[in-house]
Amino acid sequence: MPGSIKGKNILVTGAARRIGREIALRLAREGVNVAIHYRNSEKDAIALAREIEGLGVKAWIARADFEQNEYDGLIERVVSATGTLDALINNASVFTNRSLSGLTLYDLVRNIHVNSWAPFELGRDFKRTMKRGHIINILDSSTSGYDWSHVGYIMSKHVLTEITRMIAVDYAPDVLVNGIAPGLILPPPGKDEEFLKRMDRTVPVKRHGNPEDIAEAVVFLLKNNFLAGAVIHVDGGRHLMDYAHGPHPD
Ligand SMILES: NC(=O)c1ccc[n+]([C@@H]2O[C@H](COP(=O)([O-])OP(=O)(O)OC[C@H]3O[C@@H](n4cnc5c(N)ncnc54)[C@H](OP(=O)(O)O)[C@@H]3O)[C@@H](O)[C@H]2O)c1
Repeated sequence: MPGSIKGKNILVTGAARRIGREIALRLAREGVNVAIHYRNSEKDAIALAREIEGLGVKAWIARADFEQNEYDGLIERVVSATGTLDALINNASVFTNRSLSGLTLYDLVRNIHVNSWAPFELGRDFKRTMKRGHIINILDSSTSGYDWSHVGYIMSKHVLTEITRMIAVDYAPDVLVNGIAPGLILPPPGKDEEFLKRMDRTVPVKRHGNPEDIAEAVVFLLKNNFLAGAVIHVDGGRHLMDYAHGPHPD
């Protein structure tokens, strides 16, 4: 039976802005107490914590730069503030612009470090510390095709997708691990809404999604106790398109 998540304590990484912020707010509206991880966006994290408290639940903030290995000890720090933790949402990520010809080892390692290794370490610490609960890794629906302009990034999301499947088996039945693969949701840095509108034609449903669509999938997974290793593509069907045919319209 799907359960209620009211009263749970949940950590969302990269929660101060954009999709992470929407996930945090949606959880708060479900009655969840939210631990907001951030790296640079301290003002946004504080403002979000106030907004969440205004919804009648608790909020905490915790800073950590994953490029500086500060995922080490983050779960313990959060638990010492919250008392317990019921779920971890690995949402934080770097997104670097590199084609295969421009890929460097530094760029690849940076993406793997933040987007694959940090979620893995946080998940392993969560399992060791809490023993039970949910882990949701935010992936990318472009792993179904070929994102030639963000090669290091997409390789790191492939690694995280495999990690999600492996730990789903290894951590079950006590910790349920699943993934969400967003498609076109928010414009990347330097692009605007017009960019997304131009890209809409590459999506079977002919439009891009919004952060609420991702938050909705997070709540669905948290309420479900019979999903392990599932990857939900919240992308209007874009993962079924063959990305290798034709360049991006921009
Ligand atoms: N946007 C989309 O349309 C889209 C599409 C497919 C998949 N996704 C996935 O969905 C998730 C959220 O997307 P988004 O566009 O909202 O993400 P984003 O804005 O690119 O990044 C989210 C947060 O990650 C944090 N972060 C970056 N580097 C970090 C580091 N070294 N250590 C710790 N935190 C770090 C940043 O926190 P601070 O601001 O506090 O520094 C940032 O606000 C990501 O996993 C992304 O890959 C997004």
